[in-house]
Amino acid sequence: MSPTQQEISAEIAAQAAPTSGALHPERRYPPYRSSLLRHPSQPVVALEDPDAVELSGPVFGVTDVTELDADLTRQHHGEPLGERITVTGRVLDRNGRPVRGQLVEIWQANASGRYAHQRDQHPAPLDPNFTGVGRCLTDDEGGYAFTTIKPGAYPWRNHTNAWRPAHIHFSLFGTAFAQRLVTQMYFPGDPLFAYDPILRSVTDDAARQRLVAAYDHELSVPEWSLGYRWDVVLDGPAATWTEEGR
Ligand SMILES: [Fe+2]
Repeated sequence: MSPTQQEISAEIAAQAAPTSGALHPERRYPPYRSSLLRHPSQPVVALEDPDAVELSGPVFGVTDVTELDADLTRQHHGEPLGERITVTGRVLDRNGRPVRGQLVEIWQANASGRYAHQRDQHPAPLDPNFTGVGRCLTDDEGGYAFTTIKPGAYPWRNHTNAWRPAHIHFSLFGTAFAQRLVTQMYFPGDPLFAYDPILRSVTDDAARQRLVAAYDHELSVPEWSLGYRWDVVLDGPAATWTEEGR
């Protein structure tokens, strides 16, 4: 039988203590049920020569990325439904230096909380004008920017009444595909934060806060869109938590 929210919340509380202070969550995190089945059980294999992987692996060219790729509201004939937003920020290294030319990819649910993916069958409407994927390259200041729609919360089957807080998935590549980092960005003030085992798997409160974007009124465009700002720090004590560790 599916566990209740109370049972999951009790597990989250019990898990918090031993790993408190750690930036990265345990790969095996029981309140996030499917992590038990799919977390890596072998140690990470270090690539001695990441560049060599590029010789046989996939490549992308910077010219493949167009300006249109960063605007998720213009990928179809009509406009998607929902709250139009700008999400922007900078990708920085541990010393605050900009990371330039970085491929930043995002994917997200639509305003109703549904992914345009066949595995997502929950009864919320698909939006024919929204696919929910975008990409851009960071500029000379390490900056990235997307125009999109605020995603909705959605149910998942981790436990009874399990709902994910609204979030946008982010992927960043270093200079090679083997250096990929994956994480999620959340929206401020979401009432679901306390209930979500995925967000709560980051047991350090300050690290968790760094996954939440800030509403930026100066970034909001009159009569057009709301602005959110979110920086990604790739390493060091202020690092943004990522899903695969570093
Ligand atoms: Fe998601």
